[in-house]
Amino acid sequence: MNGYRIGIVGCGGIAHRHIAGYRKVAHDLGEVVAGCDIDKEQLNGYCDQYDIPNRFTNAADMIASGEVDVISLLTPPAVRHDVIFPAIEKGIHLLVEKPFGETLCDAVSFVEAAEKAGVTLAVNHQLGFMEDIVAMRDIINSGDIGDIRYISHDELKNRTRVRGWRSLEQRLEISIFSIHLIDRIRTLAGSPPQNVSAVTRHWNPDVKGETFTSLTVQFENGIVGTMVSNWHGLTLSECRLRVDATKGSVLSVKKVVLDDTATLHIHPLNGKKETREFHREGAFTHAMGESMNHLMDSARRGTEPMHSGRGNLYTMQIVDAAYLSAQRGGQMVEVAEIK
Ligand SMILES: NC(=O)c1ccc[n+]([C@@H]2O[C@H](COP(=O)([O-])OP(=O)(O)OC[C@H]3O[C@@H](n4cnc5c(N)ncnc54)[C@H](O)[C@@H]3O)[C@@H](O)[C@H]2O)c1
Repeated sequence: MNGYRIGIVGCGGIAHRHIAGYRKVAHDLGEVVAGCDIDKEQLNGYCDQYDIPNRFTNAADMIASGEVDVISLLTPPAVRHDVIFPAIEKGIHLLVEKPFGETLCDAVSFVEAAEKAGVTLAVNHQLGFMEDIVAMRDIINSGDIGDIRYISHDELKNRTRVRGWRSLEQRLEISIFSIHLIDRIRTLAGSPPQNVSAVTRHWNPDVKGETFTSLTVQFENGIVGTMVSNWHGLTLSECRLRVDATKGSVLSVKKVVLDDTATLHIHPLNGKKETREFHREGAFTHAMGESMNHLMDSARRGTEPMHSGRGNLYTMQIVDAAYLSAQRGGQMVEVAEIK
């Protein structure tokens, strides 16, 4: 075959969305040729379903096999070091699911190793490839709404059923879900974060981690970002991403961030107000494919991917600072303190 040979490590829930997206969007650049899972039944079920020929119950064996050029790492957050370092040593490029690492410190070590080896490393914040945010970025880059001052991103929904490894995570809501919203805020802000204050609540007695977060991040360029993620919005789901700038505002509204459908309101100060509707069936899956496609294209060209591990260190800085701030009852934490 031509193109990159992709190996999937972790053939669980999200692996189904990944392979569907890769086959839809990324087939020109690569193909899934191997699967790996410590659970043999899970591995065979997945590989049978998608006709994947090479199967491994251990990532070390997949890496040593010489059968893969790119690994898509889709395991729970505790499984990162044992795959990332040996893969980098073998020159294998990596798309790592969020959260990039359990801490900023882990993430830094992955980026340093990858850069030293010349390996392309990206983090799967595929929601940056959804149509509404791509359009929003284009509008901002066109200069039509001027310079960004404020970004707010909120999601309120009923996510009170939390199961499996997630129910045992000490770092839950921010690390597992709203890290996506934080990553979108920081990529739009286009600047390193300076300080963060965050309040969290543990409102679900069945799980170890937080299920509500309210956060403010100030960036070095003066932009202010705020984010609220509430898993206890029991009966009314809403996801909003709003950018206020010196010459207008843009607002994306949907039910939940993963939705196929979004409404984008574009309100320039001097110009025609516009509303755009987006509807792409399987938008979430499509974004997974875009994410892998972009990683492979960047590896091929030797350029830094938009969702690079290096860029993600800013996201991880905000995450670590937010947990420290929450521990201190919402006190502002300077990012310099945790670097
Ligand atoms: N980007 C997104 O929108 C999104 C959505 C859901 C989950 N995720 C992320 O994907 C990752 C996996 O989540 P999930 O919901 O698929 O979990 P899951 O529990 O459904 O699947 C994880 C799989 O990894 C396997 N596994 C565990 N340790 C392993 C190891 N050492 N080697 C190989 N396989 C191993 C498990 O047996 C399981 O089959 C997490 O990091 C999660 O945060 C991302």
